Amino acid sequence: MTAERTEQPRQPAGASVDEMLFGLMMRGDIDPYPVYAWLRENAPVAWSGGFNAYVVSGYADCDQVLRDHEVFRAIDEEMLAALFPQAAQHEAYRIFQTSLVGHNPPGHTRLRRLVSREFTPRRINGMRPEIERVCARLLDRAQERMRAEGSVDLHREVSVPLPMHVLARLLGIPEADLPHVSALVPRMLHVVDPAAGEEQFTDADAAFAEFGDYLDVLVAQRRREPRSDLLSGLVSVHDEDGDRLSGDELRTMVFTLWAAGFETPAIAADNGVATLLAHPEHAHWLDAEETAGAFVDELLRWETPGPVAAARRYTAVDTRIGGVAVPAGREVRLLIGSANRDPRRFPDSDRFDPARAAANPLMFGAGIHYCLGAGLARLEITVLLRELRRRFPGLRAAAEPVRRRSIPLREFSSFIVTADNR
Ligand code: HEM
Repeated sequence: MTAERTEQPRQPAGASVDEMLFGLMMRGDIDPYPVYAWLRENAPVAWSGGFNAYVVSGYADCDQVLRDHEVFRAIDEEMLAALFPQAAQHEAYRIFQTSLVGHNPPGHTRLRRLVSREFTPRRINGMRPEIERVCARLLDRAQERMRAEGSVDLHREVSVPLPMHVLARLLGIPEADLPHVSALVPRMLHVVDPAAGEEQFTDADAAFAEFGDYLDVLVAQRRREPRSDLLSGLVSVHDEDGDRLSGDELRTMVFTLWAAGFETPAIAADNGVATLLAHPEHAHWLDAEETAGAFVDELLRWETPGPVAAARRYTAVDTRIGGVAVPAGREVRLLIGSANRDPRRFPDSDRFDPARAAANPLMFGAGIHYCLGAGLARLEITVLLRELRRRFPGLRAAAEPVRRRSIPLREFSSFIVTADNR
């Protein structure tokens, strides 16, 4: 399909590209992989009138868009005002779009440099004992429930609370405040929901404002009495030139970490449990630390937690993606879940195979916006799956897991399991 073409190709089943995309974006209960395969073959760079965007589904094309940050730009404040006048009415939208992921160089380079001084691999690796403790506590509770009731909902008891508690410990958010501040996240995430309307945006504004007020108190405390947590680090961070995060930047940075680090690891944890159950023949990969990483990376490729990239890109100039002409000023959306199943990049791509040679799957993006939390997410998922396997070798589903639509799409709403050795 070319940019000039006006008629949309139709899927054999009769659905137009727009209808297929609508299904992918708005429903969590459909199997997206046949749709991805059809798009990659027939319309790898498809214009969607419904979403007012070019939708890209092949690996090489998604990789090109992610890496070429000069042509494919994150939406910055200037573009935001031109393209989304509604942003002016919604503080939540403006905050999200001007976060790290919404910045272009040189602003992005500066912010990323500052946050990376504190969000270091050393700090993240140092979280391991803490993650192990949180994980053990949640699994103890899940095990008690399994003993008492015969089964337990791992989604609710473990997958969702694990990243929340880990993030809270990393940032230094007191445990007692968690019920309140975690409830704000789904409301804040309305800003990345393609189905959100005025009501949801207004709700997101209120949630951002509440989180902001909460944060201001915490930041003031850390200024007075710095601790060893990331928040204290971000409050005092500065580079060689003495440059530091402004109050607004600090707020937005914490918003971003809190919102970005929450749901995707929870989805990955549920997907990990599903994969363990579906592929017991590969479970032994989790037994050793050296091979567990390959299991987790293949899991994140095979079932990408954020299959439709939440962050948008806009073309700065007339360009081509995979031979298709795309004019300047157009939105480009990436189907990362599809790119990671592209057989041109991953032979026999629909097969879960931890032994496959590494080929840079895109679950954490690529280029300058590569996920800041990739190391943390990998660590959380690895610790959880290894401990699950150790405790419950006979784990099995006690009911059909239920998937639902969520903003990053295809989240589970419950995952009820049992085990013989409970
Ligand atoms: C399995 C879990 C995760 C997945 C699949 C994931 C995925 C991604 C992807 C695809 C991007 C790139 C977005 C783009 O290019 O527009 C990204 C960026 C980002 N992620 Fe993650 N993420 C995960 C976990 C986390 C965690 C735990 C944190 C923080 C605690 C985090 C923080 C961020 C931040 C701050 C960015 C923006 C980086 C930048 O713009 O420079 N993510 N993530």
